[in-house]
Amino acid sequence: MATQDELKRQAAQKAVEYVNENEYLGIGTGSTVYFFIEALAQSKKQIKGAVSTSALTSETLKKFGIPEVTLNEVNGLPLYIDGADEINHLLQMIKGGGGALLNEKIVASAAEKFICIADESKYTSRLGHVSLPVEVTPNARSLVARRLLKLGGEPELRLGFTSDHGNQILDVANLNFDEPIKMEDAINKIPGVVENGLFTHHPADLLVLGCSDGIKVLTARV
Ligand code: 5RP
Repeated sequence: MATQDELKRQAAQKAVEYVNENEYLGIGTGSTVYFFIEALAQSKKQIKGAVSTSALTSETLKKFGIPEVTLNEVNGLPLYIDGADEINHLLQMIKGGGGALLNEKIVASAAEKFICIADESKYTSRLGHVSLPVEVTPNARSLVARRLLKLGGEPELRLGFTSDHGNQILDVANLNFDEPIKMEDAINKIPGVVENGLFTHHPADLLVLGCSDGIKVLTARV
């Protein structure tokens, strides 16, 4: 049976087919994304440049000789490719396991198309089996944590972690995601919250899922 990493790699390799040469490409963060960058380099497809979402992804791009550009340098982004911690049938996601949720949401929102790459363990009928990462300014950490408790969550500070923007992350368990759009908005309204890892306003357009019985390419099922 294929391991989780093998399924991630298969999804990542398949996603390279969707990349057009001579275009800019937004690239997320995480182990599935690492496999994607590796596969893109091996494919020899030449892109104009990649908009990275983290220092880690920038390092990987450099390692594989893929040129990087900033979001400010590009006028629109045809495609964004990224992993997820959880994704449902509407292709709404929980992201931020790697702590890059702020840049990921910015770059995803700039792209015309978002392709999520994941292994089958990430696909769920109901979001919320994993904690929701919430990026907060350090001075507001306790205040935000108390507000998140009032929303029904159980926040826990991600120890020893500082985001690329100098912020901290609260991983919040037990939130109710019956209405995920409302929850995304409610959390982002708390002063001190920089961003949260719910991607409901910008769900993926396509999911390339590595499964033990083959690769599946899924669109949202309403
Ligand atoms: C990083 C993310 C990642 O996409 C998510 O954590 C999935 O990671 P992996 O591909 O390693 O399973 O949101 O902030």
